[in-house]
Amino acid sequence: MSSQTPHLVAAAADAPGRAGPLPRLDRLAYGGDYNPEQWPEHVWIEDVELMRTAGVNLVSVGIFSWALLEPTEGNFEFGWLDRLLDLMHDGGIAVDLATPTAAPPAWFRRLHPEARLVDRHGNILGGGARQSFCPSSPGYARASARITGQLARRYADHPALVLWHSHNEYGGVNALCYCETSAAAFRDWLRDRYGELARLNDAWGTTFWGQRYGDWAEIEAPLAAPTAVNPAQQLDFLRFSSDAHLTNFRRERDILHRLSPGVPVTTNFMLANCKTIDYWRWAAEVDVVSNDHYLRAEEPENHIELAMCADLTRAVAGGRPWLLMEHSTSAVNWQPRNIAKRPGELRRNSLGHLARGAEAVLFFQWRAARFGAEKFHSAMLPHGGTGTRVWREVVDLGADLPALEPLRGTRVLADVAMLWDWESWWALELDWRPSVDLDYRERIAAYYERAWRDRLTVDFVHPERALGDYRLVVVPSLYLTTPAAAENLRRYVAGGGTLLVSYFSGIVDADDAVHPGGYPGALRDLLGLTVEEFLPLRAGETVRLGRPGGVVAAAPVPDGWPADPADPTAGTLTGQVWTEAVLPHGAEPVLSYLDGPAAGGPAVTRHRLGAGHAWYVSTRLAADGLARVLRAAYRDAGLVPPGGVPDGVELIRRAGTDGRRFLIAINHGERDAELPASGTDLIDGTFHDGVLRIPAGGVRALRT
Ligand code: GAL
Repeated sequence: MSSQTPHLVAAAADAPGRAGPLPRLDRLAYGGDYNPEQWPEHVWIEDVELMRTAGVNLVSVGIFSWALLEPTEGNFEFGWLDRLLDLMHDGGIAVDLATPTAAPPAWFRRLHPEARLVDRHGNILGGGARQSFCPSSPGYARASARITGQLARRYADHPALVLWHSHNEYGGVNALCYCETSAAAFRDWLRDRYGELARLNDAWGTTFWGQRYGDWAEIEAPLAAPTAVNPAQQLDFLRFSSDAHLTNFRRERDILHRLSPGVPVTTNFMLANCKTIDYWRWAAEVDVVSNDHYLRAEEPENHIELAMCADLTRAVAGGRPWLLMEHSTSAVNWQPRNIAKRPGELRRNSLGHLARGAEAVLFFQWRAARFGAEKFHSAMLPHGGTGTRVWREVVDLGADLPALEPLRGTRVLADVAMLWDWESWWALELDWRPSVDLDYRERIAAYYERAWRDRLTVDFVHPERALGDYRLVVVPSLYLTTPAAAENLRRYVAGGGTLLVSYFSGIVDADDAVHPGGYPGALRDLLGLTVEEFLPLRAGETVRLGRPGGVVAAAPVPDGWPADPADPTAGTLTGQVWTEAVLPHGAEPVLSYLDGPAAGGPAVTRHRLGAGHAWYVSTRLAADGLARVLRAAYRDAGLVPPGGVPDGVELIRRAGTDGRRFLIAINHGERDAELPASGTDLIDGTFHDGVLRIPAGGVRALRT
């Protein structure tokens, strides 16, 4: 069975005369989550004043307010929200109004014990938190529909309302529920998918360990078991769970559309960091894509991960503008060590998202909370008030954003496509894979990082989407490869494209069954090789890679690679984690294993197919080797990374249909940087004539 084809939209960002993602607020949005219910009303007056000072024009309200809006079942109190929305409108601040359904009230938990969240060990999870409910609960469906309908009816015509914010981070912490209600819903979902039990038995391979089902009622959620649970069952449970949340979203969205026509509906995604939601399937369901992003504070150069998430968000948005719904002004409160952002980092982060397609820069949160689990989370207005560095940076950014309006509606120019697939991620990381060190996101991040360092912009693409426009397509780990995806890649290469595939791709189909005929079944012909055996390495073990013994004079020598194959430095490239016994049949070896279990065999190959080339990398190359191999692939692709750009400077190019072009340069380094570029700075109006100077930690946005 093939995976569901995602809804894919053509990049429409620069359609002339288009309204932005928020027709009722047609400009760059600035603001954040606002929780006025945590403060006495006199503070709201001060909030509006300060929001205006900071240039805030949009706040998200009511996200966790269910217990206040419906204090007892069926009894509503909207007075405070009426006053708040009026106040916002009078202050010229637009509202993104949430349905509060991520935080069911305590009464709901008491009245609906059957709706409690159950983990895979059968433990019932407690309340006093948020999102502690079963996503398949009919009681939850009724209660959340009721409060959604009440809000939609009451505020549909409120002049402050510009956007509906359904729920909060669907699947964030209650992604999977294993209760009896969920198991029954899972069975219904399976009936829809397979129709007949025989098809399910076939897809799940239930002849293995005698797991055959004779009745739908025998099927359970994949609870913790004495040993590994059927992988196809687990994979379907992940699909089902993503869909269960989607059903909840659709219900709210449909109510909002019906009762509040013309107001777009979104829900905040967590792209690249939420494994459990298949956002390709969700993207078509929202009116505008919005995303939450939090830096991995302790990681060095974490702005590269930020860029990756922003690029993935743009991909899921089909190239259209999207909203950065949440990020932080400084430290969060939930990481092991909550590192504060350094001066200027807030601005670089915000403009980094903006450069990659965001048309809203919103934070969690407006005013720092005094109590509750997030009291140490940063805010636009810190506990220390307006005398703080963070506040000054918030005000400065708000003042500069209007100058960046010309970027709206222009397109991010990308050089490289990289495939991304949630189903493949799920399947690759199921238990009992050949090595626990196989890690989906790690390889994506490694290849992404190299492209980022080479100043090449990446578009993430679903594996079944046409790739014709890209010069280079990188496939870091596509363990689950459908026949449609394999054919898509073959067509791309035959048509002249350059493809680079990393190990453990093309192995199984959508049921996690191995493609027949030897690895990598789905990609064997395309890559011109067979992998006879996986040869994973021990923890910490490394292997050396060198040029093959003079066999393939035609193979390109990666840049920086010694011309003389006997050169003793030829062993500097290393592989870790994974090697394979690769048998080429058509592919040329470019690098071979010099030692380790695959010694003497090809490690990196290149296959000419039709008008294009398909590269294969059978080990986890360390960063320097990955850089060299990728550069050799760039050469096939005719891609030339921009030169003369100092380390740590990020570049993003954008273009409008009217020929306007922009260059955004972000200097993450601690020294001033210079690079060759000309154009007028959108913010301060300076003209840079051939040399663009970017202060340490600064950002320039040029019209070139
Ligand atoms: C997000 C969530 C917010 C807030 C924030 C803190 O995941 O949507 O409500 O908790 O994290 O970083």
